[in-house]
Amino acid sequence: MPALLEIKKISKSYPLKSGVFGSSTVQILSDISFVLESGQILAVVGESGSGKSTLARQLVNLEQPEQGGIFLQGKSYAAIPDLQKRTRMIFQNPAASLNPRKRVFQQLQEPLRNLTDVSALKQSDVIYDCLQRVGLSKSQAQLYPHMLSGGQRQRVAIARAIIVNPQVIVADEAVSALDVSIQGQILNLILDLREDMGMSWLFISHDISVVKLIADTVLVLFAGRVMEFGPAKQVLETPLHPYTQKLMQSVPDQELSNPVLIDKELVSTDVGLISRDEAVLDSACVYLARCSIADKRCHEIIPPMINLGQRSVACLKA
Ligand SMILES: Nc1ncnc2c1ncn2[C@@H]1O[C@H](COP(=O)(O)OP(=O)(O)OP(=O)(O)O)[C@@H](O)[C@H]1O
Ligand SMILES: [Mg+2]
Repeated sequence: MPALLEIKKISKSYPLKSGVFGSSTVQILSDISFVLESGQILAVVGESGSGKSTLARQLVNLEQPEQGGIFLQGKSYAAIPDLQKRTRMIFQNPAASLNPRKRVFQQLQEPLRNLTDVSALKQSDVIYDCLQRVGLSKSQAQLYPHMLSGGQRQRVAIARAIIVNPQVIVADEAVSALDVSIQGQILNLILDLREDMGMSWLFISHDISVVKLIADTVLVLFAGRVMEFGPAKQVLETPLHPYTQKLMQSVPDQELSNPVLIDKELVSTDVGLISRDEAVLDSACVYLARCSIADKRCHEIIPPMINLGQRSVACLKA
């Protein structure tokens, strides 16, 4: 049986403003491959600018990769007419993704009307049932977004995503803007929904402590390339790639009450953000400039993903 979602060697670049030297492009994602199995929560980690949101946009078909392909149950995205219903996105800031002038009820009715054939007669039932699933009450359906707390608004955004019964939900930093205690509640909600409805999640976060709590599988991105991929426990506890090792070194066994942000860690160890110069090396490892174990071969080839059973790593020294 094909995997629920298979990403095969996708690449994405964006045009740079054209100048006197003509126009050029900047490579954001290179040769990304991985699978998301049914019912799994796959966390994508990587520092700011590593391409997480760009990857998310390809996965919900807001943009299309220029190379490679994405396959849902073996079928290419290009051949699936109702992708908007099958793959849904949740953003960091629910205030921005909800319409301030519409009541919760209408915000949920919209995707039902546009993307499903649920009859007008049944829509209310479906909406109230969905609100209950995300921990909101029937009476809250009549409220406007500004009348809700941040956590409640994110519950509405989650309801808008799940109400059409999607197969894949891409959550881009969906809990990052929330207070830590509210984060915990939303993470529990996501775990419950996965249990009850069986959909798969691609969960983007730069908070390793959140990833530890929620992920079955972890994908580590650096400068638009996959550094490491595999079962969460293995990747987080015995990281093989020097970049993943660096990320994990700074994460003691901690509780959710003390989030560990990747960016903060990298800034505090004075490594800074990825410069695109690092990313455009086309015949060497992208991690080279930061790597302390690189040797001659690392300067000469782009490390391929090496398969090690359930996990894989793009490092010649692993
Ligand atoms: N439309 C665009 N045109 C040109 N460059 C872009 C565009 N969108 C993103 N980029 C660039 O692509 C790179 C990756 O951006 P992306 O938003 O995917 O990173 P990210 O991992 O989501 O970062 P963050 O953690 O800050 O959200 C960045 O260097 C960004 O400036
Ligand atoms: Mg982003």
